[in-house]
Amino acid sequence: MESPFKADILKGKVGLITGGGSGIGFEISTQLGKHGASIAIMGRRKHVLQAAVSALQSLGIHAVGFEGDVRKQEDAKRVIESTFKHFGHIDILVNAAAGNFLVPAEDLSTNGFRTVMDIDSVGTFTMCREALEYLKKGGRGRNSQSGGSILNISATLHYTASWYQIHVSAAKAAVDSITRNLALEWGTDYDIRVNGIAPGPIANTPGLSKLAPDEITIKAREHLPLYKIGDKWDIAMSAIYLVSDAGKFVNGTTLVVDGGHWLSHHRRLPKEEVKQLSRVVEKRSREKPVGVPSSKL
Ligand code: COA
Repeated sequence: MESPFKADILKGKVGLITGGGSGIGFEISTQLGKHGASIAIMGRRKHVLQAAVSALQSLGIHAVGFEGDVRKQEDAKRVIESTFKHFGHIDILVNAAAGNFLVPAEDLSTNGFRTVMDIDSVGTFTMCREALEYLKKGGRGRNSQSGGSILNISATLHYTASWYQIHVSAAKAAVDSITRNLALEWGTDYDIRVNGIAPGPIANTPGLSKLAPDEITIKAREHLPLYKIGDKWDIAMSAIYLVSDAGKFVNGTTLVVDGGHWLSHHRRLPKEEVKQLSRVVEKRSREKPVGVPSSKL
């Protein structure tokens, strides 16, 4: 689909995207690049990074890849410094690196829980903290009057409760908290905007294939009216909105991009039945209010 944004809306900006070599992170890298930004992607797997950088370059995007694990502070520091050295400034940080797997809570080890907390929550904080020096108003390499922008990829799992994802629910709840707290502190002190996106099920992503394999969800989908699969494009367009001047007054929010899926509940009564019943029940309640003794009527 065509982008609704001007092709130069991010011209002159530099974006660093963790987990930018695949899935949603790669699509965000691609679309930020297509809209004028230079792109640095960070990831753990060299071959994935190389393939992603080649693909971005073939689209005419100025792109570079840096190997690193967001769980390691030295990696975060090195990749951010390398991005600065390469491009001369950093304007946008997207925290898209994440870990996930389905597991009943009773089978999850403390190390398994901690691993996802380390990637999603601690990793997000570490990247933000290390990038602050470059993103803040007047920071190193900044050539604009304002601060930069941070985007944290989250989820909707923790809005209620989610089966078999206690670790990710906890981790993403922390991510949302990081988003709000940094929006407050760094928005106030350094003119940095910090926002998030909570994607629903998105086609052709590692997340969907790991968390909603057909074997598990075909039945569930039949009962969830708003269970639709979105496109990576949906997330990338939301990302452009949030990190560009189009979203210049948006700070501290996590935008849910899921077609309303997290609100989904099985419809317990057919609509026609409710329409008929409602009038009958209303009439009955007016004739004989509940809790009022009939002697008083
Ligand atoms: N069920 C239960 N526990 C699991 C598990 C599963 N499916 N997969 C991993 N774990 C546990 C491991 O057993 C280990 O705990 P232990 O030491 O007590 O045994 C812990 O998690 C760490 O696993 P390990 O394989 O050493 O970690 P890793 O750093 O190599 O991989 C993951 C990290 C597990 C998060 C891996 O899935 C990953 O790299 N994911 C990135 C991509 C991704 O998930 N994308 C989807 C985003 S939505």
